[in-house]
Amino acid sequence: MAEPVRVCITGAAGQIGYSLVYMVGSGAVFGPDTPVILHLLDIAPMMSVLNGVCMEISDCALPCVRDLIPTDNPEVAFKDIDAAFLVGAMPRKEGMERKDLLAANVKIFKVQGEALDKFAKKSVKVLVVGNPANTNALICAKYAPSIPRENFSAMTRLDQNRAQAQIAQRLGIPVTDVKNIIIWGNHSSTQFPDVRHASATVNGQKVSVYDAIKDDSYLKGDFITTVQKRGGAVIAARRLSSAMSAAKAACDHMKSIWQGTSEGQYVSMGVFSDGSYNTPEGVMFSFPVTIKDKKWSIVMGLPIDDFAQGKLDATAKELCEERDDAIAACQN
Ligand code: NAD
Ligand code: LMR
Repeated sequence: MAEPVRVCITGAAGQIGYSLVYMVGSGAVFGPDTPVILHLLDIAPMMSVLNGVCMEISDCALPCVRDLIPTDNPEVAFKDIDAAFLVGAMPRKEGMERKDLLAANVKIFKVQGEALDKFAKKSVKVLVVGNPANTNALICAKYAPSIPRENFSAMTRLDQNRAQAQIAQRLGIPVTDVKNIIIWGNHSSTQFPDVRHASATVNGQKVSVYDAIKDDSYLKGDFITTVQKRGGAVIAARRLSSAMSAAKAACDHMKSIWQGTSEGQYVSMGVFSDGSYNTPEGVMFSFPVTIKDKKWSIVMGLPIDDFAQGKLDATAKELCEERDDAIAACQN
């Protein structure tokens, strides 16, 4: 067995936490031969619920789970951790946009950035799930200046998974036969799910998704809006925001960081923009990335047509506005 990985999950008593703690404990992220020590953070009033989650995890008798540390103290939660899933934050209700959560949630990520800076390993990989995820990740990194900012990322993997599933269903093929769909920009209704560079395997032949679907108006219309609005559709149906699929996507994202991407494939995640693809430098923009040795690199050189450029500009503008609002909120 390998050395144990110390993993923090915040909001561990919440909806996403309920699925995520199990998935991480099952070995799905760090590997079936890697023990995990789970640091589970929630707020004081949720400690009884969190203790119940710990009882259940213990009762699952998961071979990978070496220890469970439930706590409401960020110092204990972040002490010497290798990986963090920052989930703990308020979810939106029907009729809200994710950016409406900024005022309520951004200060959580300021405080947790400061605590990560003090207590976590400098090599810690931090995935921000709590909404608005891109901007919360930006703030978290800003308040953790001793941790390399490349170690912070925001989750758009759920959008990628949604897009992949929509295309697979449309073509009647397994999801694994759809590759390289990109989510550009913000995890919000301005995101741009882009299939221009994606491929599908149909009847044993690898073809572009555009050639396989042969319906430009769908790919530039309903497909994009379905993915952009899927979170809201789940909330309208469940009266709760997505949880099982969010936990699965968080595991996929961290697994990609930990284990790297496969040859010829990329994944999407919100990372600090270096200005690539004419995006504003310094915002947490979702790009296609490849990952090796736990380091991501933006996939360069993909052609961007006028349609795509318009979409990238719109989501970039929103991210700049969110960044400015978040910085102002943290100063109050
Ligand atoms: P939830 O309300 O069920 O759970 C949130 C948990 O966080 C609660 O137990 C709460 O007590 C805890 N919490 C609040 N403040 C905390 C703090 N300072 N420290 C630690 N824990 C704290 O919500 P949920 O459905 O699990 O969603 C959590 C967040 O994830 C929401 O912001 C939601 O919008 C977001 N989300 C993001 C994505 C994505 O794709 N990026 C997908 C789904 C949900
Ligand atoms: C999602 O995409 O399902 C989450 O971000 C929750 C939400 O508010 O839509």
